[in-house]
Amino acid sequence: MTEHSGRGSAASLNTPADVAASALSRYRDLVDDWDAFAAALCRPLPGSVWANPTRIGVDALAGLLAEQGVEAVPVSGLPGALQVPASFRTGQQWWYCIGLAHAQEVVSQIPATLMDLRPGQRVLDMCAAPGGKTAQIAFALGNRGTLVANDVSFQRIKALQGNLDRLGVVNVTTTCGDAGNWPAAGGQFDRILVDAPCSSEGTVRRNASLLQRMALANSERLGPRQRALLRKAVQRCRPGGRILYSTCTFAPEENELVVADILAELPDALRLVPVSIPGFRTAPGITAWQGRELPADLAHCHRFWPHHNDTGGFFIAVLEKRGDLPSEPEPKPAELSDAEHDDWLTGLDAKYGFPEDYWTHYRVNRQTRRGLHLMAADHVPPAVPKSEGSGLFFHRTNVRPPKPTTAGALLLGRDVSRFRLELTQAQRDAYMRRETFEPTAAQAALDQRGQMMVTYAGHALGVAIFHRSGVIESQFPRRWSGCAAGPQQGQGGAPADAED
Ligand SMILES: C[S@@+](CC[C@H](N)C(=O)[O-])C[C@H]1O[C@@H](n2cnc3c(N)ncnc32)[C@H](O)[C@@H]1O
Repeated sequence: MTEHSGRGSAASLNTPADVAASALSRYRDLVDDWDAFAAALCRPLPGSVWANPTRIGVDALAGLLAEQGVEAVPVSGLPGALQVPASFRTGQQWWYCIGLAHAQEVVSQIPATLMDLRPGQRVLDMCAAPGGKTAQIAFALGNRGTLVANDVSFQRIKALQGNLDRLGVVNVTTTCGDAGNWPAAGGQFDRILVDAPCSSEGTVRRNASLLQRMALANSERLGPRQRALLRKAVQRCRPGGRILYSTCTFAPEENELVVADILAELPDALRLVPVSIPGFRTAPGITAWQGRELPADLAHCHRFWPHHNDTGGFFIAVLEKRGDLPSEPEPKPAELSDAEHDDWLTGLDAKYGFPEDYWTHYRVNRQTRRGLHLMAADHVPPAVPKSEGSGLFFHRTNVRPPKPTTAGALLLGRDVSRFRLELTQAQRDAYMRRETFEPTAAQAALDQRGQMMVTYAGHALGVAIFHRSGVIESQFPRRWSGCAAGPQQGQGGAPADAED
């Protein structure tokens, strides 16, 4: 490996000779241009970010980047996405921390666009964490209805929930378990994403050391789990519904061979759907591998080779379940404790002056002793399997005075008519660093003190306390602020208890 100095930190990159000497050499006959393939794997991967459609347009996001001197390039085929330089620290920007955007590899953004998503569909994301695709699906459903996001790892579910909170997603219930055992009592779904655990060979541009660890044995080990996941997805898909199977690996053993085996198990129930992917050059799925002939329609799969679009490697298959098969009854909904929240909403209305009938867009319920969650009004979590959480934790009621969480303030802050403070740029930066700062003369002249929702350029930032002593104290949570805190993190007047 050779050293490459990006803007900021140095990162290790491979050489074409490293690629040739690696386990990837077994794909020599699959790739149209080996030299271009190997060269692409040795370049850093450009960054990519999409605009949160509930908070900002892509042009406005490009404007924020331009203010920082960053040239953002539109991504053809992905209207909400921008490409940014590989060395740009997207996750450390103030606008990122308040959920105006999400960083996600370009190829990873494609599956959700091929699921034919529409509001009203019931959707399952089987292997969801850390949740980039979950968030895309949630917004494609209009942030309404029911999306269930599952992952086998509890820690990764926590990370997923953090992303959904930051982005203001209210139509997701999370579950934690082996999706290969997803229970029939959880019902059927119109759309299912199987973004399968894989050997990740296509991510080597982001993680150069992976090259040395690649081996056929990894793919052979993962195959049974991938088949179990896809098999279960077919069972849990409604007749006429769509399943998207994707991996970020080149290995046919994890891609076409998995799809071919499941198709062979259920020849009358399932078909591969030919889809076009405008804006991207892809290669068809392979129909023969190491002496095994595969059905011709495996060519409907898409392979993304890194040198074709300057991306990571990826594989996508879109499957449809036959429409005239018998469908199952609707699953039993979870019993949510909807009691005793009206007084809390009345209190929020009285203080912040929300528009009339504001809460009719939402379903509010108590999932923890700490406070209340907010879900889309038509979100229906299933009774089975047990959920880790539904919607967004938005209001802490076990503190005096009760306090909107940062996720709640980011979601609701633009809609309040009282106790709202528009910050200057310098105040915004201090706020994101969790500092205590001085009000402007106009702010000091206001007669409102205490807990306030703060905004910058109309974008909700979170909650602050405007003290009678005349200073404004940031309540931006410590665990959210690492990204935006900059070099002064932890210095000065960081509040002792600003956690949500
Ligand atoms: C490729 S990642 C998913 C990335 C995610 N879809 C996204 O866009 O952010 C694969 C995920 O599958 C999870 N996983 C592995 N085995 C699983 C299983 N049997 N059931 C459910 N999830 C599983 C892993 O924990 C990992 O988070």
